[in-house]
Amino acid sequence: MNYFDHNATTPIAPEVLAVLQQVQTECFGNPSSMHALGQRARQEVEKARAQVAALLGCGPKEVVFTSGGTEADNLAVFGAPAGHVITSAIEHPAVLNSVQERGNFSLLPVNRDGLVAPDELRAALRPDTVLVSVMHANNETGVIQPVAELAAIAHEAGALFHSDGVQAAGRIPVDVAALGVDLYSIAGHKFNAPKGVGALFVKEGVKLAQRQFGGRHERERRAGTENVPGIAALGAAAALPRPDTQALRDRLEALVLARIPETRVHGAGAPRTPNTSNISFAGLAADALVIALDLAGFAVATGAACSSGATRPSPILTAMGVPADEAKASIRFSVGRGNTPHQVDALVTALEAAVARLRKLSPAHA
Ligand SMILES: Cc1ncc(COP(=O)(O)O)c(C=O)c1O
Repeated sequence: MNYFDHNATTPIAPEVLAVLQQVQTECFGNPSSMHALGQRARQEVEKARAQVAALLGCGPKEVVFTSGGTEADNLAVFGAPAGHVITSAIEHPAVLNSVQERGNFSLLPVNRDGLVAPDELRAALRPDTVLVSVMHANNETGVIQPVAELAAIAHEAGALFHSDGVQAAGRIPVDVAALGVDLYSIAGHKFNAPKGVGALFVKEGVKLAQRQFGGRHERERRAGTENVPGIAALGAAAALPRPDTQALRDRLEALVLARIPETRVHGAGAPRTPNTSNISFAGLAADALVIALDLAGFAVATGAACSSGATRPSPILTAMGVPADEAKASIRFSVGRGNTPHQVDALVTALEAAVARLRKLSPAHA
């Protein structure tokens, strides 16, 4: 299988798997235990904390381990004080549904390239705004938001700033100090660590209400015995060199645009992560194209969400003003470690054939 869906999840890197297996078998002690085995596990957790801190440019005490991106986002959104929250229309459901559950919120629109305008944030801020949450990089388009500028505006108004960095960490350099954020979420499985482990950066001095009650783990910010092997693997993945995906993504985009007519890249006018390309193929149903490619041995994704048998256009593309038909004809390609130029060329050849075949069958493309 040629895997082009690294924004959904990534395979574990061999170096990371080695750490996971070793810690799983040899460091089974409880990090809160006083004996040597407990302390050995504690060392693994603290080593990983330093590795994650190095990835994010923060201090180790500012790293709170969680069960993944969703929990980190929930901790940030629900941990913030009572009051009004501002988020963007293109957030992942882990943020969007949490904010909706809290209530008392405003949604920021995005422009055609998927960017939040700083002036929109200025206009939405209220005296009772306590939190602004705008993602760093989008999962469907890879579009990178002007987080530093937005965080500065939020701070002028006295609000905390959270950014969902799940699609950014491990793909682009992240420096939470330079970004000026108070809270930043990451998830291991998006950068070659296992599923079910992630972290929230909590800037020193920021008070978050507890979401989960129990022991005094993670400086009383996240109760529960630590997932020691997962955390050690997260640290190992954080220490891997960043994969160089830009040339592969650019090759894929250039070949598709040159060889397949009526195609368009979404978010092309904005800064994007170097691994993501969201392309519409006019006149097609994206899910039919995903299935055709799957049968040909290529894993890609549609941005559209399927519910009760009906395909809805992607809310992210819709927020960018993409018409419903075009949004439903859009595919997300996300490259990562292990992809080769040869695989990209084979993917484009398979795409060309599948698109031509499906367009012939499609009444919408008569
Ligand atoms: C932008 C973004 N935020 C949050 C999440 C949720 O992370 P997790 O799957 O680790 O809960 C994802 C993953 O799908 C994501 O892409």
